[in-house]
Amino acid sequence: MEFSTKAGSPEKQKCGCLVVGLFEDGKLTESAAALDRAGGGLISELVNRGDMKGKAGSTLMLHHLTGVQAQRVLLVGLGKEEEGGIKDKAFRDALNGAVRAVTATGAEDALFCLSREEVAGRDLGWKLRQAIVLAESALYRSDGMKSKKDDKPPALAKIGFLLKHRAEGEAAADALLQGRAIAAGMNLAKELADVPANVCTPGYLAEQAKKQGKEFKLKVDVLDRSDMEKLGMGALLAVARGSHEPPKFIVMHHHGGKKKDKPVVLVGKGITFDSGGISLKPGEGMEDMKYDMCGAASVFGCMKMAALLDLPLNIVGVIPATENLPGGSAIKPGDIVTSLSGQTIEILNTDAEGRLILCDALSYAERFQPECVVDIATLTGAVVVALGAVASGLMANDEELAQELLARGQEAGDRAWQMPLWDDYQEMLQSNFADMPNIGTKGAGSITAACFLARFTKAYKWAHLDIAGTAWKSGKEKGATGRPVPLLAHFLLKRAGKL
Ligand code: BES
Ligand code: MN
Ligand code: ZN
Repeated sequence: MEFSTKAGSPEKQKCGCLVVGLFEDGKLTESAAALDRAGGGLISELVNRGDMKGKAGSTLMLHHLTGVQAQRVLLVGLGKEEEGGIKDKAFRDALNGAVRAVTATGAEDALFCLSREEVAGRDLGWKLRQAIVLAESALYRSDGMKSKKDDKPPALAKIGFLLKHRAEGEAAADALLQGRAIAAGMNLAKELADVPANVCTPGYLAEQAKKQGKEFKLKVDVLDRSDMEKLGMGALLAVARGSHEPPKFIVMHHHGGKKKDKPVVLVGKGITFDSGGISLKPGEGMEDMKYDMCGAASVFGCMKMAALLDLPLNIVGVIPATENLPGGSAIKPGDIVTSLSGQTIEILNTDAEGRLILCDALSYAERFQPECVVDIATLTGAVVVALGAVASGLMANDEELAQELLARGQEAGDRAWQMPLWDDYQEMLQSNFADMPNIGTKGAGSITAACFLARFTKAYKWAHLDIAGTAWKSGKEKGATGRPVPLLAHFLLKRAGKL
């Protein structure tokens, strides 16, 4: 999709579809009012008749509006008009509704007037970034593996945003680049995650990392099993034992900052399929466990975003990748392994494998002397029970870092919600035979998982995002969501001084 901005009067714009908003009380926005005047009052007549009520996201398509140059006019509801501007959600609902309605027509280009409307506390850059990310998300199709592609893809190829003043163009240009880069990162995360596990193996992820490294001049290192053995990554290797696919440990470097700037390290869980291992999962819905590498996919997406924008920041992406399968050599409940940190772990449930591969990756991250480390993982079913598909779970050993991530998630429309990491929960992790078990006693499953990780992150500021509920949708709309790339992208952009 091509995105651009221009300035001018709405009624004079030649395009396939012009998109203007109106509020729930029937009040027209300035743009809609301009069309209404040009069109002899037709829009207000429709509103008075009750044909368009202005509920956020509702739409009404008008054809042949007199006095207007556009082929079609799409009225979009913005919800209640509020002091200081509409809410984030109303803006997003309106954009989603508009993109859906426009793509259902034959319009090849659309011009949106929605970024002219006030959104409380948000600037033009925010509105444009949001609009681009939402439009790209709505248009994303995962048909790479269908022998017959969708024969009627939407005609829409260009989206323009009509600015109020020409002078806004410069700020807008930056926001367009950022929006495109975030969307590109999300799309990459979705693509990788949607690839089935017979194709998307640890080796495949390593190849993709090398490919991306070449394309964007990122330094990429891939450690093989023998490298991991030499280092002593006993926890990661334990998970890999059950599978014939060799594990890979992928490290990607984006050097955008000064040489001595400490890097932000992103660690993504890369279980390319989680059967549960010997503690086998039930069959129903097990196919969704191809998505157990969504943390890794989000790291890929962030590295791409940072490279596209040439962010002046040092970023290291670390991805421990393996399958979790039951095989003749697979780990068994009761087995004890030694992690890279030297701490021993009694594996009570082989399905709690994410923390086993992450703990070694988190110990490995120490060598980068990080500014901070954020791990991203589809770690627990318990977080889905607690937060559903709305918020990712956030836990951190540093309150400032936690608040920073929460705020960026809020801005990005990709929210997280904090859970406590109190010592009281650490008491739920006790083993008679090793330093710790890999599961806690009953309850607080997402927190005890994070408590386990916290034992490997004492050397730096660390936050953990449990994305088991937010990284993909199941059911009819099955597919990866690209989350939490928007949250992390905002986090990195802000740290780079770009927001
Ligand atoms: N990958 C799963 C977590 C998961 C479950 C994500 C359902 C999305 C949907 C993880 O490896 C896992 O199996 N966790 C176990 C931990 C338990 C054995 C302590 C879980 O949550 O059931
Ligand atoms: Mn598991
Ligand atoms: Zn898992």
